[in-house]
Amino acid sequence: MKYLLDTANLEAIRKYNEIFPIAGVTSNPSIVKNEGKIDFFSHMNEIRSIIGRDKSLHIQVTALDTEGMLKDADRILNAVDKDVYIKVPVTMEGIHAIKKLKAQGIRVTATAIYNKIQGFLAMEAGADFIAPYYNRMENMGLDPEEIIASFAEMAALYHYPTTIVAASFKNAGQVDKAHIAGAHAATMDPSILVSALQQSYITNAVAGFDADWKSIYGDCTISEL
Ligand code: G3P
Repeated sequence: MKYLLDTANLEAIRKYNEIFPIAGVTSNPSIVKNEGKIDFFSHMNEIRSIIGRDKSLHIQVTALDTEGMLKDADRILNAVDKDVYIKVPVTMEGIHAIKKLKAQGIRVTATAIYNKIQGFLAMEAGADFIAPYYNRMENMGLDPEEIIASFAEMAALYHYPTTIVAASFKNAGQVDKAHIAGAHAATMDPSILVSALQQSYITNAVAGFDADWKSIYGDCTISEL
């Protein structure tokens, strides 16, 4: 299982990349919008300098046509670095762009995936990552676990080297279900991880241990014995 941060917030990336076992950072134009009118490329370069070259950085194109997507990809790779995964929504123009990008050996993350054929086509086109949108599927009355399981099954059956990075989460339970269904990775806002570890049953358990220890040893911790 891999956990990626689905945010462009530098403070959050700095903090949670340090705390959690993070494999990379993803964003999209809506996530970028949350940061205001940032200097886009210096911001993306700053994310890279925080996470380093060993973790994956996924940056989405904004053009809607194939030629424009290829130009966006070229600009991103030149302005950030060649290791960036170019995120391309799986539209008809997008699948065309994915084919062309892969023919040039460029790293690609196929995104905005809601149905099976989008994921299957992206795998066949050579996408390195495919990003099914878990919560949005649920909102549409679809079964994200069944769809993710199909991607995992096809990837295994036909030996596609594609990594399934599930996205669009509102809580940790959805992340767990995506992983159990067969997603190799999941990308999420860090608040989902933070909230999962701050549930009252956990903090109550820790408070109980703390009280019991202090009832015997006072404020002296193990390292101070
Ligand atoms: O990575 C895709 C994701 O950001 C979409 O999430 O919350 O807008 O459905 P959401």
